[in-house]
Amino acid sequence: MSILEIDGLTKHFGGLTAVDHVSFEVQEGEILGLIGPNGSGKTTLFNLINSFYTVSSGKIIFNKQDITHLKTNEIAKAGIGRTFQVVKPLKRLSVEDNVMAGAFARENSFSGAREVAHEVLKFCHLDDYSQMKADSLPIGGRKRLEIAKALATRPSLLLLDETAAGLNPTEVVEAIQIMKNIRDELGITIIIVEHIMKVIMTISDRILAIAHGSTIAEGKPEIVAQDPAVIQAYLGSEFNIGDHFNA
Ligand SMILES: Nc1ncnc2c1ncn2[C@@H]1O[C@H](COP(=O)(O)OP(=O)(O)O)[C@@H](O)[C@H]1O
Ligand SMILES: [Mg+2]
Repeated sequence: MSILEIDGLTKHFGGLTAVDHVSFEVQEGEILGLIGPNGSGKTTLFNLINSFYTVSSGKIIFNKQDITHLKTNEIAKAGIGRTFQVVKPLKRLSVEDNVMAGAFARENSFSGAREVAHEVLKFCHLDDYSQMKADSLPIGGRKRLEIAKALATRPSLLLLDETAAGLNPTEVVEAIQIMKNIRDELGITIIIVEHIMKVIMTISDRILAIAHGSTIAEGKPEIVAQDPAVIQAYLGSEFNIGDHFNA
């Protein structure tokens, strides 16, 4: 069953069309990888799905409900969580309080929010850091905190925007494991944007590739990685998709 249906989604910024008639579906329990060179519209797509940006045209259906014109907080309540490419914790608050702030999207009671926070911090290997100030976490921890905050909103669909960027190889392996656990143990559907090919190729069931706001390929990771349009789109960028496929 499809949990998300994107139909002809388009976003204009003045004369620029950042997302151009994109259509795709995500099945319940699936991990969909979203790839594309810098500036191809990946983050904008997330910003449209969770209503950070208003849609220029097209439709977003989540669990058979048209959410195209809902507000950001209503979308979180409906069950779509997201992380941000640029992590922005509430710096002076503790790690635990940051996650509790996420939990209040759903929980009304303090004790309920704290319970959710504990669970989620453990899941993201942050339980030992819960009383630390968020800004004293190293980058790996801050990225996991971003995931924890999103999980605390109890999503059924999670949008992960470059959560492995800037991590060292050990932290990347840990991040992959956490993302797999989110799907396998919590049953949460995931759309993941990631530049590290090892991550995207390892964990995606299916990949959607976009360039200049339009879909250029869609399918199994090994097929999309060899698609001429995808290779073309990445020419001249910082990596060669083929090199990273077997990494
Ligand atoms: N708020 C905005 N105002 C104007 N242009 C934007 C805005 N957000 C994104 N863009 C533009 O839309 C295009 C896609 O950006 P983005 O979605 O961030 O790409 P990606 O995440 O794939 O790197 C870029 O050309 C970017 O400059
Ligand atoms: Mg981006």
